[in-house]
Amino acid sequence: MTGIRNIVVLTGAGISAESGIDTFRSEGGLWEQHRVEDVATPEGFARDPDLVLRFYDMRREAIQTKLPNPAHQALARLDAAWKGELLIVTQNVDDLHERAGARRVLHMHGTHLNAWCTACDTRSPWTGPMIDRPPCPSCGARALRPDVVWFGEMPYEMDRIYGAIRQADLFVSIGTSGAVYPAAGFVRDARELRVRTLELNLERSQGSQWFHESRQGPASRLVPEWVNEVLGG
Ligand code: APR
Repeated sequence: MTGIRNIVVLTGAGISAESGIDTFRSEGGLWEQHRVEDVATPEGFARDPDLVLRFYDMRREAIQTKLPNPAHQALARLDAAWKGELLIVTQNVDDLHERAGARRVLHMHGTHLNAWCTACDTRSPWTGPMIDRPPCPSCGARALRPDVVWFGEMPYEMDRIYGAIRQADLFVSIGTSGAVYPAAGFVRDARELRVRTLELNLERSQGSQWFHESRQGPASRLVPEWVNEVLGG
């Protein structure tokens, strides 16, 4: 891969699938048991906070039992070795990129492992349950919610993401269906800026047509192969 210096990687649920975390839109995915409107909107939370807190308590507990897979590890290897700019923008709320050792990670949809206090606006690291309305470590108010971005809410750090895409020579999308905006639009933003685009996904996605190149297969194989190409190993 000659002439590539700055890279933006976008990851979605597909990169964590082989770690045993359900994707959203596959059969048996977690939306099967719950309607999106019930567990992933501010309105759903206002309507039935117990249901939502219990749902995220279960997810938070589950992800802590999962391990990074070779795809996360390959991106961590890229992060450690890459001298140019790199930003791993993930839509995932698990911490498997970090546990694999990646550092240049941005969680645009938040993280399961933070609590967000709606009283004082502080975010605190959080691994336990929230169903019993524990107090905020910062202000003591019993007003914590999961620090995940729900439908109808603004994803985090959009300016930083667009800034990175503007500087990029290569945009790579891994394991995401291209169904949820604004992330689904990044490939077209990149193309308008004449950034090279590559998709690595199990199957063709809704967005495949927009990429210069689309490779199909499991992330645990495709990502290490691609990282080897980039690092020339
Ligand atoms: N390797 C590579 N890709 C895979 C694998 C795998 N082992 N398994 C599944 N995939 C692909 C699927 O083919 C699918 O295209 O990963 C994609 C997962 O798509 P979604 O389930 O829609 O997940 P994602 O794109 O991350 O969803 C985006 O939607 O509900 C919201 O906020 C939530 O961040 C999430 C966002």
